[in-house]
Amino acid sequence: MNKRIAMLGGGNMARALVAGLVSAGLETKNIDVLDRNADKCEALRRDFGVNAYEQAGDWLKAADVVVLAVKAQGLAQTIATLKHFLNPEALFISIAAGIRIADIARWLGSQKLVRAMPNTPCLIKAGVVGLFAPATIDANDKTTAYEILSAMGEVIETTSEQQLDLLSTVSGSGPAYVFRFIEALESGVVRRGFDEVAARRMAILTVLGAAKLAAQSTEAPAKLRANVTSKGGTTAEALRVMDERDFMEMMDQAIQAAYNRNQVLADELGKA
Ligand SMILES: NC(=O)c1ccc[n+]([C@@H]2O[C@H](COP(=O)([O-])OP(=O)(O)OC[C@H]3O[C@@H](n4cnc5c(N)ncnc54)[C@H](OP(=O)(O)O)[C@@H]3O)[C@@H](O)[C@H]2O)c1
Repeated sequence: MNKRIAMLGGGNMARALVAGLVSAGLETKNIDVLDRNADKCEALRRDFGVNAYEQAGDWLKAADVVVLAVKAQGLAQTIATLKHFLNPEALFISIAAGIRIADIARWLGSQKLVRAMPNTPCLIKAGVVGLFAPATIDANDKTTAYEILSAMGEVIETTSEQQLDLLSTVSGSGPAYVFRFIEALESGVVRRGFDEVAARRMAILTVLGAAKLAAQSTEAPAKLRANVTSKGGTTAEALRVMDERDFMEMMDQAIQAAYNRNQVLADELGKA
């Protein structure tokens, strides 16, 4: 890709994106990062050889693509401060959780904006990245956004902004649900006398292995589950308890709660 990419914010997510872009072969001279912390800039230069700046400047005007990678609460203020350094023709990609396109577009004074939702496994290039591009975005810009975000994981495009918010209740928040599940597996055997270190390893590898099997299989997870559940066996007994406690209903409510909170936060953050 022959584009100049600037990132506003050089924190965890920007670092993950830089790492992915550099390993995908993007020329380091075409990657600029702005972060007000000298140590983060130094680490980005040292680890990846990209340009990193503590201050905005005319260098920012040269960007074809600008990734908005500061914390959501600080995005309005960051845009207000940097607006006169931004190329109005650039394609903007917001990875800020929750904030709606209409609000960011108002702050930027530009409609050339897509929203993306990465997740923490992006830090190890095993992420899911949601992408929503409004109808005003042309095919070339959409392809550019897709290519850039692919550096962090598998891109899943949604057909509406509401679908992107829904996606984030699973891929964005989901790693925490899975960590909770791992905690539960671990503590279930530790409480019964199993070695703690071995229990953790076993719980993590079980989730990893099952997820890999599901990802590689052509069968639905429900079928894979049925395949390992013999009638009258031990797995069936454990699943019976989960069904009695209505695990599916609990997860349904959890996803709804995450979605509701997302909308409240989007309303609040968008007021700026
Ligand atoms: N982490 C995740 O799993 C995840 C998932 C999905 C989406 N996101 C989104 O990704 C975005 C970035 O998250 P992150 O975890 O990478 O955040 P982060 O680690 O806090 O990185 C943001 C960096 O930008 C710097 N910064 C903020 N405002 C600035 C300004 N005006 N000028 C220069 N530098 C500035 C911050 O400095 P200070 O520390 O001094 O403020 C910080 O170093 C967020 O909007 C978040 O919602 C994150």
